[in-house]
Amino acid sequence: MKKDIENRKDIELLITTFYEKVRSDETIGYIFNDIAKVDWEKHLPIMFDFWENVLFYTGAYNGNPMIVHQHLHRVVPLTKTHFKQWEKLFTGTVDELFDGNNAILANQRALSISTVMQMKIMTEG
Ligand code: HEM
Repeated sequence: MKKDIENRKDIELLITTFYEKVRSDETIGYIFNDIAKVDWEKHLPIMFDFWENVLFYTGAYNGNPMIVHQHLHRVVPLTKTHFKQWEKLFTGTVDELFDGNNAILANQRALSISTVMQMKIMTEG
């Protein structure tokens, strides 16, 4: 039986598995690998903090993902297809590894943040 997302260790497993899929994904992998040339050793701990804060209100993350993606969008236009694929990989990873209220919450938050992010990008002047 799958367990729920309960602590930082669970978030580390979720996020590491998710970005392994992202990096080898045909639709969005190149944005991370070739365009942003993400330094994963730096990026992953930021993402652990972000998701720990989203789920457990730890206050660990204090960046601004909306601005980061608006900048990225100027370098490579982010499309509905990119976001749909991101969402599919994220919710697919959550469902593959976990089950429970926090797993449901993680998927809901991912989708709502993604929706807001797309609105911000599209309404940008
Ligand atoms: C088309 C979809 C997306 C693409 C291609 C994308 C790509 C990226 C890239 C390239 C970075 C910069 C990594 C770096 O160089 O450090 C980044 C950062 C980040 N992304 Fe995304 N992203 C997408 C959607 C999302 C969504 C939906 C969320 C949240 C639910 C999210 C959360 C974040 C966060 C928190 C950061 C770190 C920002 C910081 O440095 O403070 N991303 N993303």
